Parts: sequence; C-alpha cells; structure tokens
Amino acid sequence: MDVRKALPPYRIKVVEPIPFLTAEERRRALADAGYNPFNLRADQITIDLLSDSGTGATSAAQEAAAALGDESYAGARSWFRFRDEVRDLTGYPRILPVHQGRAGERVLFGSLLKPGQICISNTHFDTTHANVLLAGAEPRDLPCNEAADLDSDEPFKGNIDLAALERTLAGPEGHRVGLVLMTITNNGLGAQPVSMANLAAVRELCRRHRVPFFLDAARFAENAWLVNQREAGYGTWTPRQIATRAFQLADGCVVSLKKDGLAAIGGFIGLRDDELHAACEANLIATEGFSTYGGLAGHDLERLTQGLREVVDPAYLRARAASTERLAELLDDVGVDTVRPAGIHALYLNAGRLLPHLSPREFPGHALGCQLFLDGGIRCAELGSLYLGEMDEHHRLLTPAPFELVRLAIPRRVYTDTHLEYVAAVLADIAKDPEQVSGYRIVSAPPLLRHFKVRLEPLPPAAGRSVASYG
Ligand code: F0G
Repeated sequence: MDVRKALPPYRIKVVEPIPFLTAEERRRALADAGYNPFNLRADQITIDLLSDSGTGATSAAQEAAAALGDESYAGARSWFRFRDEVRDLTGYPRILPVHQGRAGERVLFGSLLKPGQICISNTHFDTTHANVLLAGAEPRDLPCNEAADLDSDEPFKGNIDLAALERTLAGPEGHRVGLVLMTITNNGLGAQPVSMANLAAVRELCRRHRVPFFLDAARFAENAWLVNQREAGYGTWTPRQIATRAFQLADGCVVSLKKDGLAAIGGFIGLRDDELHAACEANLIATEGFSTYGGLAGHDLERLTQGLREVVDPAYLRARAASTERLAELLDDVGVDTVRPAGIHALYLNAGRLLPHLSPREFPGHALGCQLFLDGGIRCAELGSLYLGEMDEHHRLLTPAPFELVRLAIPRRVYTDTHLEYVAAVLADIAKDPEQVSGYRIVSAPPLLRHFKVRLEPLPPAAGRSVASYG
C-alpha cells in the first residue's frame, strides 16, 4: 500500500474510550447473550465491526451544521437544504425523507408492489427481503455467475445476471414482476460493486418490459468509487458524477443514509412519478412523519446534507478503500481468505474454508464470529447458514447457505489502521489452530429475520479451547 495514496483527508478531534474485558468476562457476556452478538452490550465490545450503518464519525462541519437545525414541524429550512442537495445529487424531482432505509422500503413497496408480484434484485438485503414479503410479494435474487467464485478478482461481482433477468421478464412469470431493485454495492454478496454497464442494461430490459427499475443505493458513493477505479471509461469522472449517472439510469431509489450519508440516522426515497409520489407521501405522513421531516429531526437533516457532500470526496473514498484493502492483505498473509476483490464497507471472511472441521449444521461462520469476540472482543456478523439457511421447525438445517461467511463491517472514519491490525492479529491466532473452534446449535429462533434474535449454545468440545489474552 502506498501511504501517500491512502492518507485520510482528516484528523481526529473527538474520541471515546473503548472497553477491554477479561477473557472470563467475555465468556460470560457471550453466554448471557445466548451466543448471539446482537444481544451483547456495546460496552462489552473492544472493536465493533457488526455494522457500518449509523456507526460512522461525523465531521466538525456536520456538527456545526447541526446547530442550524430548524425543528419546525412543517417546511423547516433544514428540509429544503436537504431536499435540494439530494435533488442535485440524484436528479430525481420528488424526494421523501425517511428515518432509515427500511422505512423507505416499507413505504415504497407498500405503494409499488402488489400481493403475488415478484421483486427481482442482484441480492436483496435482509430487511429489503423482509419488506418485500410483508408487501405480499416474492423477493428473488439473480446474482451474476461470477459472484459464485469467491476467490476470483472479477471487478463487478455485484452485477445482476442479465440473461436470467431477461429470461424471467420475457417468460411466463414476466407479468408478475413488479419491480427490479439493484443493490449498490451488493452488501449481501461480499460488498461487490455493480458496473454502470450492468445498470444501463437493466434499465434497457426494464424499459422494454415496462417494469419499474429502482436502486437500493445505501452505498452509492462507494460503488461510484469502485466504478471510477475499475470500469473502463469512468477514470476521469468524479465519484459524484458517477453516482448521479447511476441514479439517472433508474426510475427511482430507496436509500439508507446511515451509510454513505455519514450520519447516525436518515434515508430518503427518490422518485420521478407523481402518482407514486402521492401514494408514498400519504403512507409516509401516516407512519413516518410529515413529508418535510419523515421521522428525522432538523439537526439530522443538516448533518446529512453536509455528509452527502463529504462522502463523495475522492480523497476520503480512496483512503477508506485502501484501509479495507490493507486489512484484506494482512489477512491473506496469515492464511485467512476473504471474498475477493476487497470491497469498501466490509470484508467477508471465508469461514467455511478456515474451519473445514465444522459442517454447515454447526454454523462455522457463527462459530468464527463468536471466537473473534471470545479471543479479542471483536463483534461481527455471520452471513452463512445461520442467516440464510433453510431450517425445519426444530431449527435443524435443511438447506445450507451457498457460503459460510463472516462480515467484518468497517464503520466510517472510526477505526485507525492500528485497530484493524489488531483484528488481523486476533484472526491470525485463530488461524494457527482452527480446529479448536467448536460449532453451535440453535436453542430458539423467531420465524422472520432469524439472525437478530436467535439464541444458541456451543457444541462440545467447547471447553478445551485456551483463550488468548488481548487487551
Ligand atoms: N439496503 C441495504 C443494502 C442495506 O445494507 C441496509 C442496511 C438497508 C437497505 C436498510 O437500511 O438499516 O437504514 O434500515 N444495512 C445495515 C448493515 C443494517 O449492517 O448492512 P436501514
């Protein structure tokens, strides 16, 4: 890594302490949490890589802007500043604020999808999947074939399978397709970007078959940066120009601003269609708030307006991408495979390969995530059979997930490269003696969005492992 190219364009002004528990305290904390990291308290965690959502650090300029927050119930100045910024970025004439992405999904799908319809995506995020189901429709993922090879360095493994999309649109189920939703970047599949060529081809197919085409653009700036770096013809475009072009290719978007909005809360729906806007607005007012605040405070809108300007800074995106890439290299050096090529907001560990002694029924991804907490106080999320596998009513695995992955999500502007070196060191020790990591079994689980509330217990031989001491 050339540090001259990876230098973050900011320095740190406000910090908060991070907790260091003893190995015994961590063991007890995880047992009390039902071996589900979502149930841990944040003050039990040394490095929190559970999510990059709402976990970033704000800038001095954002906090200064927040002081200007106008908290008027309707027509606040903060709303107009936010709306104009989003319009300018996306080109969509109709903007509705929401408090976070899934609220936007619920409002949009409630107006756009009819029961029995199909929503096609490169990959639905988990709440997106759930909101499609709650609208009575069927979510269907059509990732490109290249995505199935975790080790290949294909540049755009987030793409949709265009041939499969065309087959579905032109086939007997074509009339049931109510929406095509492209997730940029593809969070469910290794943080891989989607190319502009793929988006343009989706637009063409959707036009031809008269199906609405939307973006789930939670990481629009990071996708734009990877397009700038990897796609021929975009090397001279700014990330903001690329992002605007991507929005322009679609009929509308739903965006969680908890990621590339560089703030703790927020989101929006962008639309061209007046009728759809009117339907969404009515739903929004009934459930989120008036259409000039949508569940957000004026100070949130101000932080977001400034955040949207900062996030497309090429120096910021370059440094963030380099930091993630560096962690991937450190892990590669110690024999821990990650989904290639490295994306930006997260690295996905190939737990299935690191822990071949565990079958999918023993949830190797979950086991690795738990071990990262036990050994180093690191929290992360499983993306394997616990999250995606099909189970019977006794929580026995019927069909495993295609891969057993663990996501290390990297909050924006929060951890230094030293923090990430620590993560690599903890993983290096696990990789030295992977057979010591034992599997897990489900004790109880809810029917929808299982991974958030599932409780588990370790399978023997859990007792034998000697816990390394860090911190
Ligand atoms: N779409 C994508 C691609 C997401 O990654 C998320 C959230 C959402 C929609 C929902 O947005 O959280 O604001 O309601 N992803 C977070 C994550 C939670 O950890 O990946 P939200």
